[in-house]
Amino acid sequence: MDKIVIRGGRRLQGRIQISGAKNAALTLMPCALLTHEPLTLRNLPRLADVDTFGHLLNNHGLSTTIEGTSPDEFGRVMTVRANRLTSTVAPFDIVRKIRASFLVLGPLLARAGEATVWLPGGDAIGGRPIDLHLQAMQALGASIEVATGYIKATAKGGLAGGRYRFPIVSVGATENALMAAVLARGSSVLENAAREPEIIDLCKCLMAMGARIDGIGTDTLTIEGVRDLHGATYTVMPDRIEAGSYACAAALTGGSVELVGAAAGDMGATIDALRAAGVTVTTTADGLAVSASDRLTGIDIETAPYPGLATDMQAQLMAMLLLARGRSRVTETIFENRFRHVPELVRMGADITVNGRSALVTGVSALRGAPVVATDLRASMSLILAGLAAEGETVVSRIDHLDRGYERLEEKLQAVGADIQRIGDD
Ligand code: UD1
Repeated sequence: MDKIVIRGGRRLQGRIQISGAKNAALTLMPCALLTHEPLTLRNLPRLADVDTFGHLLNNHGLSTTIEGTSPDEFGRVMTVRANRLTSTVAPFDIVRKIRASFLVLGPLLARAGEATVWLPGGDAIGGRPIDLHLQAMQALGASIEVATGYIKATAKGGLAGGRYRFPIVSVGATENALMAAVLARGSSVLENAAREPEIIDLCKCLMAMGARIDGIGTDTLTIEGVRDLHGATYTVMPDRIEAGSYACAAALTGGSVELVGAAAGDMGATIDALRAAGVTVTTTADGLAVSASDRLTGIDIETAPYPGLATDMQAQLMAMLLLARGRSRVTETIFENRFRHVPELVRMGADITVNGRSALVTGVSALRGAPVVATDLRASMSLILAGLAAEGETVVSRIDHLDRGYERLEEKLQAVGADIQRIGDD
C-alpha cells in the first residue's frame, strides 16, 4: 500500500481548490434510488468512498455514468439512474467498507417496500449503533427483523409516514428517515433532527426531485409524502471539513492560503476556533483566506452536533494546537474512540494526555518527523498536518483512509509549497 512522505517546515502559501463534500455526496447518491428518472450530481469529489457507493448502487441495478471532466479538474459529474431495481439487498462485502452504505435502507424501503442491509463498517471510531435508524423506520411504518449480521426491513404496500423524535441527534438516521419519508403515503414529522449543512443539501436535492419538506435548517422537519419523485441535476456543496483541514495546515505552518470555493457560512464553529487560537480568517470573493504569523494560543474546544464544532474537525484542530502556546483541552462528545491519532502524534513529540473523552494538549516548541500509521480518515489528516509542521521526515502509512475522503491531497498541498509525496510500498 502507498505511503505519504512529508518533509516538514515549509510555510504554505497560495490557493487550494475545495472539492465537493464527501459527506454530502454519500447522502445524495442514494437519492437516485427514489426515482426511475436520472439524477445528475455535479461537483462529486473523486474519492474511494464515492466509487464504493457507486458499486453499491450498481449492485441494486442502477447505472452510473461519469461525464468526462479533464483529469486536471477536481470533481466529476455522475448520472445515476434506477430504471428498475434488480436487488434490494445491500451485501456485506460493500457495506463493510463504508458506513454510509446504510443510507440505502430508507430509499429502498420507500421505493421497493423492502430492504435487506448488512450491518455497516467504516471508520473504527466508536460503537456506532444503528438503533435510531431502525426506530425511525418503524415510526414511519416499517417492520424490522434483526438477524445475525443483517437487518431486513419491510413495508408491504409502502410506508405510511409517521412522527419520530430522535432521542439524540444523529446525522445518518436523520438522512435515512428523510429519504424514507419523502415517498410515504402520509405526512411525517422528524423532531430533534440533525441540522448539519449536509442535511440541508440533502433536503434541497430531494426538493429538486419533487419532494415536499418544511422546516429545512431547523430541528423539526415536516415531510408531506408524494407519489413519485422525478430526476434532477444537483451540485454537491463544498466540503467544509476539507476546507477546515487545509485551514489548519495554513495555520500550523504560519502560512497564508486562500481556500477557493469554501463556504464560510457552513464553517462557523471551525472559524471561531481558528480565530480564538490567533489565526486570521477572512472571507474573500472566492472563498476564505486563512493566515497565521505569530505562534498560536492554546484553546479549549468541544465537539457537538451542528451548529457546534464538527467531530470531523477534532483531530485536525488538535494537530494545529500541538505547537500553540500554553494548554488546550480537546473534548470529544460524539464518538467514544476518536483519539486514535494521539499515540501517533506523541511519537512526533506532541505532549498530549487523554483522560476519558478529553485530551489535554500542552504546546511544545517543535515536532519531529517520524513513521506514523493512520487509523481513520480524519486521524490520518491530523498526522499529515503534524508532518507539515515537523522537523525532518514523516512517513504516513495506511493512507487508504485518506483516499476515502481527501481528493488528490498531495497535489493540493504541493501546489501551496508543501514537500509531500506519495510513494509505493517498495
Ligand atoms: C457522525 C457525525 C457527522 C460526521 C460523521 C462522520 C454528528 C452528530 N454526527 O455522523 O457530523 O460527519 O459522523 O464522522 O456529529 N447513534 C446512536 N444510534 C444510532 C445512530 C447514532 O446511538 O442509530 C449515536 C452515535 O454513536 C453517536 C451519535 O449518535 O454518538 C451521532 O452519530 P451519527 O450522527 O448518527 O453518526 P454519523 O451519521 O456517522
